[in-house]
Amino acid sequence: MKKIFTAALSLLMIFFLTACGDTASNSAQKNSAATSDTASKPAPPPKKTIIVYYSRTGDNYEVGNIAKGNTHIAADIIAENVDADMFEIKPVEPYPFDYRECTEVAKSEQDANARPAYVGKVENFDQYDTVYLCYPIWWSDLPMIVYTFLEQNNFNGKTVIPLCTSASEVFIGKEDIENHAKGSKVLEGLGIRGKDCQYEQDKVRNMIQTWLKKVNA
Ligand SMILES: Cc1cc2nc3c(=O)[nH]c(=O)nc-3n(C[C@H](O)[C@H](O)[C@H](O)COP(=O)(O)O)c2cc1C
Repeated sequence: MKKIFTAALSLLMIFFLTACGDTASNSAQKNSAATSDTASKPAPPPKKTIIVYYSRTGDNYEVGNIAKGNTHIAADIIAENVDADMFEIKPVEPYPFDYRECTEVAKSEQDANARPAYVGKVENFDQYDTVYLCYPIWWSDLPMIVYTFLEQNNFNGKTVIPLCTSASEVFIGKEDIENHAKGSKVLEGLGIRGKDCQYEQDKVRNMIQTWLKKVNA
């Protein structure tokens, strides 16, 4: 009887030790799996910056026939100072070369609240958290094609840093961008005289560098 009891007890202990061992090693495995999961999980990719601009070549206000648009020059100066990709908003239907004719087309687009199409698209717009947006002022507003861009891309959570060129150094567009680039935060914009981009580039460079410091870019 005593023998049977001892044998049963031994079996029980073996079972108990094996079970405990399994549990311990399982939980060790689980822990190591949890640790290696955390370790191997890739860090989210760092967010990037993009400079998006619309600018027109041809016959323009106060500057004659220009090969590189005023806003394009300003956008390039931002690119000299900021690590960023670039995207040009190129109209599918080019605007007239002639300044007067262009103003007429622009006016009718504005009156119709048109959304002219642009060529291509920004690949993986989600990867950017900061967007420099550069545009000329047309009829005291953004060119309608810039609204096309703002509405066709998801700006939620992005910071927009706008720059405009025009006949003066006035900045226009903060509220318009806020209303169309839904969910974005729009920082203080810079207004640059268009003809200075052609003839006073040192001055423009200084203005842009001072502004970049101010917006903490
Ligand atoms: C269609 C059109 C409308 C314009 N309307 C205005 C305006 O309302 N106010 C202004 O100050 N300048 C106006 N301008 C001047 C442009 O804003 C200025 O020349 C700008 O620097 C042009 O930039 P870009 O060369 O990059 O296209 C207009 C120019 C064009 C072509």
